[in-house]
Amino acid sequence: MSIQRIKGTQDILPDAVWPWQALEEEIRRLCREYGYQEIRTPVFESTALFVRGVGATSDIVQKEMYTFEDEGKRSLTLRPEGTASVCRAYVENKLYGLPQPQKLYYMGPMFRSENPQSMRFRQFHQFGVEVLGADEPLVDAEVIQLAVQLCQNLGVSGLETQINSLGCPECRAVHREQLAAFLEPKREGLCELCQSRLERNPMRVLDCKNPECQRLTQGAPTTFSALCQDCRDHFDRVQDLLQLARVNYKVNSRLVRGLDYYRKTAFEIVEGSLGSQNAICGGGRYDALVEEIGGPPAPGMGFALGMERLLKILQDQQIELEDTRPAQFVTVAALGRRAQDEGFRIVSRLRRKGIPAQMDLMGRGLKSQLRSANRDGTRYAIIIGEDELIRNLVVIRDMSEGTQFEIGLDDSILWIEKQFIDS
Ligand code: HAM
Repeated sequence: MSIQRIKGTQDILPDAVWPWQALEEEIRRLCREYGYQEIRTPVFESTALFVRGVGATSDIVQKEMYTFEDEGKRSLTLRPEGTASVCRAYVENKLYGLPQPQKLYYMGPMFRSENPQSMRFRQFHQFGVEVLGADEPLVDAEVIQLAVQLCQNLGVSGLETQINSLGCPECRAVHREQLAAFLEPKREGLCELCQSRLERNPMRVLDCKNPECQRLTQGAPTTFSALCQDCRDHFDRVQDLLQLARVNYKVNSRLVRGLDYYRKTAFEIVEGSLGSQNAICGGGRYDALVEEIGGPPAPGMGFALGMERLLKILQDQQIELEDTRPAQFVTVAALGRRAQDEGFRIVSRLRRKGIPAQMDLMGRGLKSQLRSANRDGTRYAIIIGEDELIRNLVVIRDMSEGTQFEIGLDDSILWIEKQFIDS
């Protein structure tokens, strides 16, 4: 049997790739407008980075990492997310010594060994932003606003932005105790995973999709009940700023997020039609992460958005992204060796002028060359046969009008150029 791609990965074929390019273009444009700069980090890192960064109790570290040993017996892991890597790069390259905050963004593949299902992949792509070095609620509001604006600019409807505050370590410790006391008597009724979460990180029980767990956690103490005054003030200010920026949101006191590094603000953008994998974007504040991985104290706030999920929603809502393929194409159809040489010269000249041009690469007959030109969306075909060559002419056929005329070889390039300038 031929070798096949790994379950949970995808080939993005040429016909499907241009919406990706259009989305990437829109993301870059928006990030430039907000003053964010791109950062590119390796797709594999030391395993310790994610264990320390993402957190030993998270599902990601417990069961979803692609970890392997290199020949130096070092344990390496394909990045399951981008935040820990960006923080490592911030520390390693001393970005904390530059003017703060550092406002960074990234796009690229992430790897998680999850059970593949609809919109849950083992290799998927995230667009993420991370703001490092500032703890002001202004940062939280700006980061949430950027994520929401991307979806708005694309014209997506039916999204909901949910926010919560998870508190600082002190509030979290209080909440953990309150929650554990509430859940302990219900232990037997919880799903197996939640029973183990009760030990490791009881807050994650609030996030379980199992209906019985959801029923049993109704009325559970929320993170709010444990917030200290400082965390309360921070959350109030974030909300005031979101309202000033006219960002619609809903407070969801059960929103807890699946990674261990969050403090204070957490948020998600969800969409109803994606089923259980309904989060297209998630993020929050992680004020201790940089220090945890060996850097100076430096607060952080960011999000990551699942690009496959966003593109699926765009497709479902029949939102057309701008087609980045050339609207007009020139195809040179040449018959015979000498005509082919002349054709190649013309194509080269057109390409040097920045005009999208191609020619047959298979030595096919004229009919078949024109048929494939039609399929490729060619606007003008330049036809060169032996007869035309002798007369130093070519035929230009306007494929959409179905008309054609003869023109001198050199004039043909000027004529084509004029059409492209005028269009
Ligand atoms: P996350 O919630 O794990 O957060 O992932 C963010 C988004 O990535 C999700 O909302 C989802 O759209 C997409 N995603 C996650 N896993 C998969 C998957 N298996 N298949 C398809 N899409 C997926 C983070 O990764 C954090 N690093 C976000 C962050 C940045 N927090 C602060 N800064």
